[in-house]
Amino acid sequence: MNQLSHNLQKRIKAKLAVVGVVGLGYVGLPLVKAFLKNGFTVIGFDIDPRKVKMLNQGKTYIKHIPTTELREYLLAKQFTATSDFACLADVDAILICVPTPLDDHRNPDLSFVLKTAETIAKHLRKGQLVVLESTTYPGTTDEEMLPILEWGGLKVGRDFFLAFSPERENPGDPVYTTENIPKVVGGLTKDCLALADALYSQVVVKTVPVSSTRVAESTKLMENIFRCVNIALVNELKMIFDRMGIDVWEVIKAASSKPFGFMPFYPGPGLGGHCIPIDPFYLTWKAREVDYSTKFIELAGEINTAMPYYVINKTLEALGKKGKSFKGSKILVLGIAYKKDIDDQRESPSLKIISILQKKGAKVEYNDPYVPKSTGLRGYSGLSLKSVPLTVERLQQADAVIIATNHTSYDYGWIVKNAKLVVDSRNAVKKPRKNVVKA
Ligand SMILES: NC(=O)c1ccc[n+]([C@@H]2O[C@H](COP(=O)([O-])OP(=O)(O)OC[C@H]3O[C@@H](n4cnc5c(N)ncnc54)[C@H](O)[C@@H]3O)[C@@H](O)[C@H]2O)c1
Repeated sequence: MNQLSHNLQKRIKAKLAVVGVVGLGYVGLPLVKAFLKNGFTVIGFDIDPRKVKMLNQGKTYIKHIPTTELREYLLAKQFTATSDFACLADVDAILICVPTPLDDHRNPDLSFVLKTAETIAKHLRKGQLVVLESTTYPGTTDEEMLPILEWGGLKVGRDFFLAFSPERENPGDPVYTTENIPKVVGGLTKDCLALADALYSQVVVKTVPVSSTRVAESTKLMENIFRCVNIALVNELKMIFDRMGIDVWEVIKAASSKPFGFMPFYPGPGLGGHCIPIDPFYLTWKAREVDYSTKFIELAGEINTAMPYYVINKTLEALGKKGKSFKGSKILVLGIAYKKDIDDQRESPSLKIISILQKKGAKVEYNDPYVPKSTGLRGYSGLSLKSVPLTVERLQQADAVIIATNHTSYDYGWIVKNAKLVVDSRNAVKKPRKNVVKA
Protein backbone atom coordinates (compact mmCIF):
# COMPACT_ATOMS: atom_id res chain seq x y z
CA MET A 1 0.00 0.00 0.00
CA ASN A 2 1.45 3.40 -0.90
CA GLN A 3 1.50 6.32 1.51
CA LEU A 4 -1.56 8.05 0.00
CA SER A 5 -3.75 4.97 0.25
CA HIS A 6 -2.41 4.24 3.71
CA ASN A 7 -3.39 7.75 4.84
CA LEU A 8 -6.86 7.47 3.33
CA GLN A 9 -7.42 4.09 4.92
CA LYS A 10 -6.53 5.56 8.30
CA ARG A 11 -8.98 8.41 7.76
CA ILE A 12 -11.71 5.96 6.72
CA LYS A 13 -11.18 3.72 9.74
CA ALA A 14 -11.28 6.73 12.06
CA LYS A 15 -14.44 7.95 10.24
CA LEU A 16 -12.61 11.19 9.49
CA ALA A 17 -12.91 10.73 5.74
CA VAL A 18 -15.39 13.16 4.16
CA VAL A 19 -17.76 11.41 1.77
CA GLY A 20 -19.14 13.09 -1.34
CA VAL A 21 -22.23 11.57 -2.96
CA VAL A 22 -22.88 12.72 -6.54
CA GLY A 23 -26.50 12.30 -7.67
CA LEU A 24 -29.02 12.57 -4.84
CA GLY A 25 -31.87 10.42 -6.14
CA TYR A 26 -33.40 7.09 -5.19
CA VAL A 27 -29.92 5.58 -4.74
CA GLY A 28 -27.81 8.55 -3.63
CA LEU A 29 -30.12 9.74 -0.88
CA PRO A 30 -30.22 6.46 1.12
CA LEU A 31 -26.43 6.28 0.74
CA VAL A 32 -26.05 9.79 2.22
CA LYS A 33 -28.22 8.74 5.14
CA ALA A 34 -26.22 5.54 5.74
CA PHE A 35 -22.88 7.40 5.92
CA LEU A 36 -24.33 10.12 8.16
CA LYS A 37 -25.84 7.56 10.52
CA ASN A 38 -22.45 5.87 10.80
CA GLY A 39 -20.67 9.06 11.82
CA PHE A 40 -19.20 10.33 8.54
CA THR A 41 -19.37 13.90 7.30
CA VAL A 42 -21.13 13.96 3.94
CA ILE A 43 -21.42 16.47 1.12
CA GLY A 44 -24.22 15.75 -1.37
CA PHE A 45 -23.82 16.97 -4.96
CA ASP A 46 -26.60 17.35 -7.49
CA ILE A 47 -27.12 19.44 -10.62
CA ASP A 48 -30.77 19.96 -9.65
CA PRO A 49 -30.93 23.14 -7.52
CA ARG A 50 -34.44 22.30 -6.30
CA LYS A 51 -33.21 19.07 -4.69
CA VAL A 52 -30.18 20.80 -3.17
CA LYS A 53 -32.38 23.52 -1.70
CA MET A 54 -34.89 21.07 -0.26
CA LEU A 55 -32.20 18.89 1.33
CA ASN A 56 -30.55 21.92 2.89
CA GLN A 57 -33.93 22.63 4.51
CA GLY A 58 -34.16 19.02 5.71
CA LYS A 59 -37.01 18.32 3.28
CA THR A 60 -37.39 15.27 1.07
CA TYR A 61 -38.60 14.97 -2.52
CA ILE A 62 -38.97 11.17 -2.46
CA LYS A 63 -42.00 10.05 -0.46
CA HIS A 64 -40.62 6.79 0.91
CA ILE A 65 -37.27 8.34 1.91
CA PRO A 66 -37.90 10.65 4.88
CA THR A 67 -35.18 13.17 5.64
CA THR A 68 -36.31 14.74 8.90
CA GLU A 69 -33.13 13.51 10.59
CA LEU A 70 -31.10 15.53 8.07
CA ARG A 71 -31.95 18.69 10.05
CA GLU A 72 -29.89 17.44 12.96
CA TYR A 73 -26.91 16.72 10.65
CA LEU A 74 -27.33 20.07 8.90
CA LEU A 75 -27.23 21.87 12.25
CA ALA A 76 -24.15 19.90 13.31
CA LYS A 77 -22.53 20.78 9.95
CA GLN A 78 -22.12 17.07 9.32
CA PHE A 79 -24.15 17.35 6.12
CA THR A 80 -24.63 19.84 3.35
CA ALA A 81 -25.95 19.63 -0.20
CA THR A 82 -24.54 21.68 -3.05
CA SER A 83 -24.43 22.24 -6.80
CA ASP A 84 -20.97 23.73 -6.50
CA PHE A 85 -18.73 20.97 -7.79
CA ALA A 86 -15.57 22.82 -6.74
CA CYS A 87 -16.41 21.39 -3.30
CA LEU A 88 -15.42 17.98 -4.70
CA ALA A 89 -11.89 18.93 -3.72
CA ASP A 90 -13.01 18.92 -0.05
CA VAL A 91 -14.00 15.25 0.05
CA ASP A 92 -11.93 12.10 0.43
CA ALA A 93 -14.28 9.72 -1.36
CA ILE A 94 -16.60 10.48 -4.28
CA LEU A 95 -19.49 8.04 -4.77
CA ILE A 96 -21.31 8.44 -8.10
CA CYS A 97 -25.04 7.63 -8.26
CA VAL A 98 -26.16 9.39 -11.44
CA PRO A 99 -28.71 7.97 -13.92
CA THR A 100 -27.82 5.42 -16.60
CA PRO A 101 -30.88 5.35 -18.91
CA LEU A 102 -31.27 4.13 -22.48
CA ASP A 103 -31.37 6.57 -25.40
CA ASP A 104 -34.15 6.76 -27.99
CA HIS A 105 -32.64 3.79 -29.83
CA ARG A 106 -32.50 1.76 -26.61
CA ASN A 107 -28.70 2.00 -26.46
CA PRO A 108 -26.87 2.89 -23.21
CA ASP A 109 -26.89 6.61 -22.47
CA LEU A 110 -23.69 7.12 -20.48
CA SER A 111 -23.81 10.90 -20.81
CA PHE A 112 -24.57 11.45 -17.07
CA VAL A 113 -21.66 9.22 -16.01
CA LEU A 114 -19.23 10.77 -18.49
CA LYS A 115 -20.25 14.32 -17.61
CA THR A 116 -19.75 13.52 -13.94
CA ALA A 117 -16.32 12.01 -14.69
CA GLU A 118 -15.35 15.19 -16.56
CA THR A 119 -16.48 17.35 -13.64
CA ILE A 120 -14.57 15.18 -11.15
CA ALA A 121 -11.47 15.25 -13.39
CA LYS A 122 -11.40 19.06 -13.11
CA HIS A 123 -11.27 18.88 -9.30
CA LEU A 124 -9.52 15.56 -8.69
CA ARG A 125 -6.67 15.72 -6.22
CA LYS A 126 -4.12 13.26 -4.93
CA GLY A 127 -5.34 10.73 -2.38
CA GLN A 128 -9.02 10.66 -3.40
CA LEU A 129 -11.14 7.56 -3.90
CA VAL A 130 -13.73 7.59 -6.71
CA VAL A 131 -16.44 4.89 -6.82
CA LEU A 132 -19.02 4.46 -9.56
CA GLU A 133 -22.29 3.01 -8.25
CA SER A 134 -24.53 3.57 -11.28
CA THR A 135 -25.59 0.37 -13.04
CA THR A 136 -23.70 -0.06 -16.30
CA TYR A 137 -22.04 -2.49 -18.71
CA PRO A 138 -18.72 -4.22 -17.94
CA GLY A 139 -15.83 -2.00 -18.93
CA THR A 140 -17.40 1.36 -18.08
CA THR A 141 -15.10 2.05 -15.13
CA ASP A 142 -11.81 1.12 -16.80
CA GLU A 143 -12.56 2.01 -20.44
CA GLU A 144 -14.74 5.11 -20.05
CA MET A 145 -14.17 6.67 -16.63
CA LEU A 146 -10.47 6.01 -16.13
CA PRO A 147 -9.12 7.85 -19.22
CA ILE A 148 -11.18 10.93 -18.29
CA LEU A 149 -10.03 10.90 -14.67
CA GLU A 150 -6.39 10.58 -15.78
CA TRP A 151 -6.66 13.62 -18.13
CA GLY A 152 -4.89 15.89 -15.65
CA GLY A 153 -1.88 13.57 -15.27
CA LEU A 154 -2.84 11.84 -12.00
CA LYS A 155 -2.38 8.06 -12.16
CA VAL A 156 -4.82 5.50 -10.82
CA GLY A 157 -3.52 3.31 -8.00
CA ARG A 158 -0.68 5.75 -7.38
CA ASP A 159 -2.30 9.20 -7.04
CA PHE A 160 -6.00 8.43 -6.83
CA PHE A 161 -8.14 5.31 -6.49
CA LEU A 162 -11.01 4.04 -8.59
CA ALA A 163 -13.60 1.33 -7.92
CA PHE A 164 -17.03 0.10 -8.93
CA SER A 165 -19.63 -0.95 -6.37
CA PRO A 166 -23.19 -1.52 -7.58
CA GLU A 167 -26.14 -0.28 -5.60
CA ARG A 168 -28.75 -2.86 -4.62
CA GLU A 169 -31.41 -0.43 -3.46
CA ASN A 170 -34.93 -1.85 -3.38
CA PRO A 171 -37.16 1.23 -3.07
CA GLY A 172 -39.82 1.03 -0.40
CA ASP A 173 -38.49 -2.25 1.03
CA PRO A 174 -39.04 -2.14 4.81
CA VAL A 175 -36.62 -5.03 5.48
CA TYR A 176 -33.64 -4.57 3.17
CA THR A 177 -32.01 -1.15 3.35
CA THR A 178 -28.63 0.19 2.21
CA GLU A 179 -27.00 -0.91 5.45
CA ASN A 180 -28.16 -4.52 5.69
CA ILE A 181 -27.62 -5.50 2.04
CA PRO A 182 -24.16 -6.96 1.29
CA LYS A 183 -22.21 -4.79 -1.15
CA VAL A 184 -20.07 -6.06 -4.03
CA VAL A 185 -16.84 -4.10 -4.57
CA GLY A 186 -14.29 -4.25 -7.38
CA GLY A 187 -11.21 -2.04 -7.73
CA LEU A 188 -8.89 -1.03 -10.57
CA THR A 189 -5.87 -1.96 -8.46
CA LYS A 190 -5.27 -3.75 -5.15
CA ASP A 191 -5.22 -0.46 -3.25
CA CYS A 192 -8.36 0.75 -5.04
CA LEU A 193 -10.19 -2.37 -3.88
CA ALA A 194 -8.80 -2.20 -0.35
CA LEU A 195 -9.92 1.43 0.08
CA ALA A 196 -13.41 0.98 -1.38
CA ASP A 197 -13.81 -2.15 0.72
CA ALA A 198 -12.67 -0.31 3.85
CA LEU A 199 -15.09 2.54 3.22
CA TYR A 200 -18.20 0.43 2.64
CA SER A 201 -17.29 -1.90 5.50
CA GLN A 202 -17.96 1.05 7.78
CA VAL A 203 -21.61 1.28 6.75
CA VAL A 204 -22.88 -2.00 5.30
CA VAL A 205 -23.34 -5.36 6.97
CA LYS A 206 -20.90 -7.12 4.66
CA THR A 207 -18.79 -6.36 1.62
CA VAL A 208 -18.14 -8.84 -1.18
CA PRO A 209 -14.77 -8.01 -2.75
CA VAL A 210 -14.30 -9.25 -6.33
CA SER A 211 -11.27 -9.38 -8.59
CA SER A 212 -12.10 -6.47 -10.92
CA THR A 213 -14.46 -3.60 -11.65
CA ARG A 214 -15.74 -5.62 -14.62
CA VAL A 215 -16.81 -8.49 -12.37
CA ALA A 216 -18.58 -6.00 -10.09
CA GLU A 217 -20.31 -4.35 -13.08
CA SER A 218 -21.35 -7.75 -14.46
CA THR A 219 -22.68 -8.90 -11.08
CA LYS A 220 -25.25 -6.12 -11.02
CA LEU A 221 -26.30 -6.86 -14.59
CA MET A 222 -26.62 -10.57 -13.85
CA GLU A 223 -28.88 -9.85 -10.86
CA ASN A 224 -31.20 -7.67 -12.90
CA ILE A 225 -31.20 -9.92 -15.97
CA PHE A 226 -32.09 -12.83 -13.70
CA ARG A 227 -35.13 -10.91 -12.49
CA CYS A 228 -36.10 -9.68 -15.94
CA VAL A 229 -35.97 -13.16 -17.51
CA ASN A 230 -37.80 -14.86 -14.64
CA ILE A 231 -40.53 -12.23 -14.59
CA ALA A 232 -40.95 -12.73 -18.35
CA LEU A 233 -41.19 -16.48 -17.82
CA VAL A 234 -43.92 -16.16 -15.22
CA ASN A 235 -45.73 -13.59 -17.38
CA GLU A 236 -45.74 -16.07 -20.23
CA LEU A 237 -46.95 -18.86 -17.95
CA LYS A 238 -49.74 -16.56 -16.77
CA MET A 239 -51.01 -16.18 -20.35
CA ILE A 240 -50.76 -19.91 -21.09
CA PHE A 241 -52.47 -20.96 -17.85
CA ASP A 242 -55.18 -18.36 -18.34
CA ARG A 243 -56.14 -19.97 -21.66
CA MET A 244 -56.39 -23.28 -19.79
CA GLY A 245 -58.54 -21.75 -17.05
CA ILE A 246 -55.78 -22.15 -14.44
CA ASP A 247 -54.92 -19.38 -11.98
CA VAL A 248 -51.16 -18.73 -12.20
CA TRP A 249 -51.17 -17.19 -8.71
CA GLU A 250 -52.45 -20.39 -7.17
CA VAL A 251 -49.81 -22.33 -9.11
CA ILE A 252 -47.01 -20.04 -7.86
CA LYS A 253 -48.21 -20.41 -4.29
CA ALA A 254 -48.23 -24.19 -4.57
CA ALA A 255 -44.83 -24.32 -6.31
CA SER A 256 -43.36 -22.11 -3.58
CA SER A 257 -43.92 -24.91 -1.08
CA LYS A 258 -40.92 -26.69 -2.64
CA PRO A 259 -38.07 -26.06 -0.23
CA PHE A 260 -35.30 -26.18 -2.86
CA GLY A 261 -34.78 -25.33 -6.52
CA PHE A 262 -37.71 -22.92 -6.86
CA MET A 263 -37.94 -19.20 -6.29
CA PRO A 264 -41.24 -17.40 -6.81
CA PHE A 265 -41.52 -14.52 -9.27
CA TYR A 266 -44.81 -12.75 -9.81
CA PRO A 267 -46.53 -11.70 -13.03
CA GLY A 268 -47.87 -8.20 -13.54
CA PRO A 269 -48.87 -5.54 -16.08
CA GLY A 270 -45.27 -5.18 -17.33
CA LEU A 271 -41.90 -4.06 -16.06
CA GLY A 272 -41.26 -0.64 -14.56
CA GLY A 273 -38.65 1.40 -12.76
CA HIS A 274 -35.19 2.57 -13.59
CA CYS A 275 -33.54 -0.87 -13.44
CA ILE A 276 -35.16 -4.07 -14.67
CA PRO A 277 -36.58 -2.74 -17.98
CA ILE A 278 -33.32 -0.94 -18.80
CA ASP A 279 -30.19 -2.55 -17.38
CA PRO A 280 -30.32 -5.84 -19.35
CA PHE A 281 -29.99 -3.85 -22.57
CA TYR A 282 -26.67 -2.44 -21.37
CA LEU A 283 -25.32 -5.98 -21.73
CA THR A 284 -27.09 -6.50 -25.05
CA TRP A 285 -25.27 -3.45 -26.41
CA LYS A 286 -21.88 -4.47 -25.02
CA ALA A 287 -22.28 -8.10 -26.15
CA ARG A 288 -22.33 -6.95 -29.80
CA GLU A 289 -18.67 -6.04 -29.34
CA VAL A 290 -17.90 -9.73 -28.87
CA ASP A 291 -20.21 -10.85 -31.69
CA TYR A 292 -23.00 -12.08 -29.47
CA SER A 293 -26.69 -11.33 -29.59
CA THR A 294 -28.38 -11.72 -26.20
CA LYS A 295 -31.31 -14.00 -26.95
CA PHE A 296 -32.77 -14.46 -23.45
CA ILE A 297 -32.71 -10.72 -22.81
CA GLU A 298 -34.43 -9.93 -26.10
CA LEU A 299 -37.08 -12.60 -25.60
CA ALA A 300 -37.76 -11.48 -22.02
CA GLY A 301 -37.98 -7.88 -23.26
CA GLU A 302 -40.49 -8.93 -25.91
CA ILE A 303 -42.76 -10.73 -23.45
CA ASN A 304 -42.55 -8.09 -20.73
CA THR A 305 -43.22 -5.27 -23.21
CA ALA A 306 -46.34 -7.09 -24.39
CA MET A 307 -47.87 -7.27 -20.90
CA PRO A 308 -49.63 -3.87 -20.89
CA TYR A 309 -51.28 -4.97 -24.17
CA TYR A 310 -52.40 -8.17 -22.46
CA VAL A 311 -54.08 -6.12 -19.70
CA ILE A 312 -55.72 -3.96 -22.39
CA ASN A 313 -57.02 -7.05 -24.24
CA LYS A 314 -58.40 -8.55 -21.04
CA THR A 315 -60.18 -5.28 -20.30
CA LEU A 316 -61.58 -5.09 -23.81
CA GLU A 317 -62.80 -8.69 -23.63
CA ALA A 318 -64.57 -8.02 -20.32
CA LEU A 319 -66.13 -4.80 -21.62
CA GLY A 320 -67.19 -6.63 -24.79
CA LYS A 321 -69.19 -9.11 -22.70
CA LYS A 322 -71.21 -6.12 -21.52
CA GLY A 323 -71.65 -4.87 -25.08
CA LYS A 324 -69.14 -2.07 -24.65
CA SER A 325 -65.92 -1.05 -26.37
CA PHE A 326 -63.18 1.35 -25.29
CA LYS A 327 -64.65 4.23 -27.29
CA GLY A 328 -66.39 6.50 -24.82
CA SER A 329 -65.93 4.08 -21.88
CA LYS A 330 -64.82 5.47 -18.53
CA ILE A 331 -61.75 3.66 -17.26
CA LEU A 332 -60.20 4.27 -13.87
CA VAL A 333 -56.60 3.12 -13.48
CA LEU A 334 -55.47 2.48 -9.90
CA GLY A 335 -51.77 3.09 -9.37
CA ILE A 336 -49.38 4.88 -11.68
CA ALA A 337 -46.18 4.13 -9.72
CA TYR A 338 -44.38 1.13 -11.16
CA LYS A 339 -44.66 -0.82 -7.92
CA LYS A 340 -46.54 -0.65 -4.68
CA ASP A 341 -46.06 1.95 -1.97
CA ILE A 342 -43.55 4.16 -3.81
CA ASP A 343 -43.87 7.32 -5.91
CA ASP A 344 -41.58 6.35 -8.82
CA GLN A 345 -43.40 6.30 -12.17
CA ARG A 346 -40.34 5.83 -14.38
CA GLU A 347 -41.04 3.27 -17.11
CA SER A 348 -44.27 2.39 -15.32
CA PRO A 349 -46.55 0.04 -17.31
CA SER A 350 -49.49 2.19 -16.12
CA LEU A 351 -48.24 4.95 -18.44
CA LYS A 352 -48.37 2.56 -21.36
CA ILE A 353 -51.83 1.27 -20.38
CA ILE A 354 -53.19 4.81 -20.03
CA SER A 355 -51.74 5.99 -23.32
CA ILE A 356 -53.13 2.96 -25.23
CA LEU A 357 -56.56 3.46 -23.64
CA GLN A 358 -56.55 7.14 -24.58
CA LYS A 359 -55.61 6.33 -28.17
CA LYS A 360 -58.52 3.88 -28.33
CA GLY A 361 -60.95 6.61 -27.32
CA ALA A 362 -61.50 5.72 -23.63
CA LYS A 363 -61.99 8.43 -21.02
CA VAL A 364 -59.17 7.60 -18.61
CA GLU A 365 -58.63 8.79 -15.06
CA TYR A 366 -56.12 7.54 -12.54
CA ASN A 367 -55.73 7.49 -8.80
CA ASP A 368 -52.43 7.07 -7.00
CA PRO A 369 -51.95 8.15 -3.37
CA TYR A 370 -48.21 8.56 -4.04
CA VAL A 371 -48.27 10.32 -7.41
CA PRO A 372 -50.50 13.44 -7.44
CA LYS A 373 -49.84 14.22 -11.09
CA SER A 374 -48.29 12.58 -14.11
CA THR A 375 -46.76 14.32 -17.04
CA GLY A 376 -45.93 10.98 -18.54
CA LEU A 377 -42.12 11.12 -18.46
CA ARG A 378 -39.89 9.62 -21.17
CA GLY A 379 -41.81 8.16 -24.08
CA TYR A 380 -45.19 9.46 -22.87
CA SER A 381 -44.65 13.21 -23.01
CA GLY A 382 -48.22 13.74 -24.27
CA LEU A 383 -49.72 12.57 -20.99
CA SER A 384 -50.94 15.15 -18.53
CA LEU A 385 -53.12 13.82 -15.76
CA LYS A 386 -53.87 14.49 -12.12
CA SER A 387 -54.71 11.80 -9.60
CA VAL A 388 -58.48 11.92 -8.97
CA PRO A 389 -59.97 11.24 -5.53
CA LEU A 390 -61.09 7.65 -5.09
CA THR A 391 -64.80 7.85 -4.25
CA VAL A 392 -67.78 5.52 -4.32
CA GLU A 393 -69.33 7.59 -7.15
CA ARG A 394 -66.19 7.40 -9.25
CA LEU A 395 -65.93 3.63 -8.78
CA GLN A 396 -69.62 3.19 -9.62
CA GLN A 397 -69.41 5.37 -12.71
CA ALA A 398 -66.34 3.69 -14.21
CA ASP A 399 -67.02 1.06 -16.86
CA ALA A 400 -63.81 -0.65 -15.75
CA VAL A 401 -61.36 -0.19 -12.89
CA ILE A 402 -57.87 -1.48 -13.69
CA ILE A 403 -55.66 -2.36 -10.73
CA ALA A 404 -52.24 -1.59 -12.18
CA THR A 405 -50.34 -1.10 -8.89
CA ASN A 406 -51.28 -2.91 -5.69
CA HIS A 407 -50.64 -0.12 -3.18
CA THR A 408 -51.17 -1.37 0.38
CA SER A 409 -53.40 1.57 1.28
CA TYR A 410 -56.15 0.55 -1.15
CA ASP A 411 -59.20 -1.12 0.36
CA TYR A 412 -59.71 -3.80 -2.28
CA GLY A 413 -62.89 -5.17 -0.72
CA TRP A 414 -64.47 -1.71 -0.91
CA ILE A 415 -63.22 -1.21 -4.48
CA VAL A 416 -64.70 -4.51 -5.67
CA LYS A 417 -67.96 -3.82 -3.81
CA ASN A 418 -68.48 -0.52 -5.61
CA ALA A 419 -67.02 -1.11 -9.08
CA LYS A 420 -68.92 -2.64 -11.99
CA LEU A 421 -65.85 -4.35 -13.38
CA VAL A 422 -62.35 -4.75 -11.89
CA VAL A 423 -59.40 -5.83 -14.02
CA ASP A 424 -56.76 -7.04 -11.58
CA SER A 425 -53.23 -7.29 -12.96
CA ARG A 426 -51.61 -7.85 -9.54
CA ASN A 427 -53.75 -10.44 -7.79
CA ALA A 428 -54.67 -7.68 -5.34
CA VAL A 429 -58.18 -9.11 -4.97
CA LYS A 430 -57.27 -12.48 -3.63
CA LYS A 431 -60.62 -14.31 -3.78
CA PRO A 432 -62.55 -14.88 -7.04
CA ARG A 433 -65.40 -12.38 -7.49
CA LYS A 434 -67.98 -12.17 -10.26
CA ASN A 435 -66.98 -8.66 -11.31
CA VAL A 436 -63.20 -9.27 -11.13
CA VAL A 437 -61.12 -10.38 -14.11
CA LYS A 438 -57.47 -11.30 -13.55
CA ALA A 439 -55.11 -9.95 -16.17
N1 LIG B 1 -33.72 3.39 -8.32
C1 LIG B 1 -33.30 2.20 -7.99
O1 LIG B 1 -34.01 1.45 -7.35
C2 LIG B 1 -31.91 1.72 -8.32
C3 LIG B 1 -31.44 0.55 -7.72
C4 LIG B 1 -30.14 0.10 -8.00
C5 LIG B 1 -29.36 0.82 -8.90
N2 LIG B 1 -29.85 1.95 -9.48
C6 LIG B 1 -28.94 2.66 -10.38
O2 LIG B 1 -28.43 3.80 -9.68
C7 LIG B 1 -28.24 4.88 -10.58
C8 LIG B 1 -29.03 6.09 -10.11
O3 LIG B 1 -30.42 5.78 -10.12
P1 LIG B 1 -31.48 6.61 -9.32
O4 LIG B 1 -32.73 5.80 -9.36
O5 LIG B 1 -30.95 7.03 -8.01
O6 LIG B 1 -31.63 7.89 -10.27
P2 LIG B 1 -32.34 9.28 -9.89
O7 LIG B 1 -32.75 9.88 -11.18
O8 LIG B 1 -33.34 9.08 -8.81
O9 LIG B 1 -31.17 10.14 -9.27
C9 LIG B 1 -30.08 10.59 -10.00
C10 LIG B 1 -29.71 11.98 -9.53
O10 LIG B 1 -28.54 12.36 -10.22
C11 LIG B 1 -28.64 13.75 -10.51
N3 LIG B 1 -27.69 14.04 -11.59
C12 LIG B 1 -27.80 13.82 -12.91
N4 LIG B 1 -26.67 14.19 -13.54
C13 LIG B 1 -25.82 14.66 -12.60
C14 LIG B 1 -24.51 15.18 -12.63
N5 LIG B 1 -23.84 15.30 -13.77
N6 LIG B 1 -23.96 15.55 -11.46
C15 LIG B 1 -24.65 15.44 -10.31
N7 LIG B 1 -25.89 14.96 -10.21
C16 LIG B 1 -26.47 14.56 -11.34
C17 LIG B 1 -30.09 13.95 -10.86
O11 LIG B 1 -30.48 15.30 -10.72
C18 LIG B 1 -30.77 13.04 -9.82
O12 LIG B 1 -31.06 13.73 -8.63
C19 LIG B 1 -28.66 4.36 -11.95
O13 LIG B 1 -27.54 3.86 -12.61
C20 LIG B 1 -29.60 3.22 -11.62
O14 LIG B 1 -29.65 2.27 -12.65
C21 LIG B 1 -31.09 2.42 -9.21
